[in-house]
Amino acid sequence: MILQVVIAVLTGFIRIGLSALYLMVLWIRRTILLVCTPALRSQLNHSLQTADVSRLLGHWSNNLLDTDKVLQSFFNGCAAAGPDGCAFYAATPEAVAQKLDDVIAAIKLNPVPVRTGVSYGLLDYKRLLNAIFRTFYSPYATFPTLAQGLADLAEGNGTVLYQMFESPFFECACNATVDTTLISDGQDAVMCTDGNLNRLTVQESREHYENLLKTSRWGELWAGIRVRCANWPEQPKRHFQGPFVGNTSHPVLWVGNTADPVTPLAFAHKMAKGFPGSAVLTQDSPGHCSISGPSICTQKYIRSYFLNGTLPPPGVVCPAVSEPLPPRSRNQGQDDAQAVLARDLTEEDASILNAVQELIRSPIVSPLGRGF
Ligand SMILES: *[C@@H]1O[C@H](CO)[C@@H](O)[C@H](O)[C@H]1NC(C)=O
Ligand SMILES: *[C@@H]1O[C@H](CO)[C@@H](O)[C@H](O)[C@H]1NC(C)=O
Ligand SMILES: *[C@@H]1O[C@H](CO)[C@@H](O)[C@H](O)[C@H]1NC(C)=O
Ligand SMILES: *[C@@H]1O[C@H](CO)[C@@H](O)[C@H](O)[C@H]1NC(C)=O
Ligand SMILES: *[C@@H]1O[C@H](CO)[C@@H](O)[C@H](O)[C@H]1NC(C)=O
Repeated sequence: MILQVVIAVLTGFIRIGLSALYLMVLWIRRTILLVCTPALRSQLNHSLQTADVSRLLGHWSNNLLDTDKVLQSFFNGCAAAGPDGCAFYAATPEAVAQKLDDVIAAIKLNPVPVRTGVSYGLLDYKRLLNAIFRTFYSPYATFPTLAQGLADLAEGNGTVLYQMFESPFFECACNATVDTTLISDGQDAVMCTDGNLNRLTVQESREHYENLLKTSRWGELWAGIRVRCANWPEQPKRHFQGPFVGNTSHPVLWVGNTADPVTPLAFAHKMAKGFPGSAVLTQDSPGHCSISGPSICTQKYIRSYFLNGTLPPPGVVCPAVSEPLPPRSRNQGQDDAQAVLARDLTEEDASILNAVQELIRSPIVSPLGRGF
């Protein structure tokens, strides 16, 4: 009898311990989301969005609300940067946009053959759009290359743009290592099983495609995600379908960019409504996730949240410290501009800036995998 009681009490403690551990894991997961560790973050965010919008609008159908703003920032930045700061320069944003339209229209009829040291093929319409769309995730790291690639393409040379989407040379060594950061099959597994995806018929696929195009021309590429799931096998048995709301023991911090190509700022506000007490921190920059743009302000708020649990004041908007295409003149190179900036920073801020600039260049904000 006493033994039974002891066992019962011990089991109780173990259960409580496990539950606490489980809650802790959940909490950590949520907390980590805010800095946009891509795998976790996109997984939950995509789950949230997919499941949430499935009842209202469909699937993967409203990610592109802010996508065109990213391209607009390329037009604006290129015109402002001057011919030395942007290889695809034209005097006004409208003129840059027109040049891009011309390049895209030309390649539709005349794809450009390319041969690099690694592979060869055609830079065609789809490959060009893919290359451009990829840069939206990390404009600070990629817009200068995009500008160069477009300028070259206007002259008939597709090498730079082709290379933006080139797979490494195939090697069949017994000891070959595989980069497992993001494997596209895994991506499909997450994307197709997260939401409540019914298999699409051809007609439904067409409707999905047409609806996406109403939000952005980039729907052409984005539609593939959903359509690719058409043949996905059944959903898992245990399939949490929401509601994705809750009272958390500590308020959640949501971070969103003003021009994120695939997770519009509106989503952050929508999520914040479901989690009482949570706050939205807005970063005023184009790109996917806050670490795609250099903002000391954002990094400091995130650090305070992690170290002290404090939330930013409501409505705060953090600027980025520079532009994806910094204006450059012949007399003042980019390095000089950086030096001027660095001189004005405290040592602490400079080290934060260095760290985030390293993140910007890292592949974690660049989309991998196929299709988009
Ligand atoms: C095209 O551009 C690439 C990259 O800048 C360059 O290496 C190559 O020589 C160019 N090709 C031609 C035919 O000009
Ligand atoms: C694979 O083996 C070759 C030849 O032994 C060696 O040069 C190479 O460094 C190895 N690669 C890896 C990833 O271990
Ligand atoms: C959060 O707590 C409030 C007050 O207790 C309650 O009204 C609300 O329904 C809860 N929300 C969720 C999502 O559990
Ligand atoms: C989820 O997506 C929104 C954009 O819709 C983004 O602003 C927000 O920061 C994301 N949430 C998390 C937890 O990363
Ligand atoms: C955390 O709080 C302490 C005490 O208020 C303060 O001195 C420190 O600067 C805060 N740290 C951050 C990163 O906000």
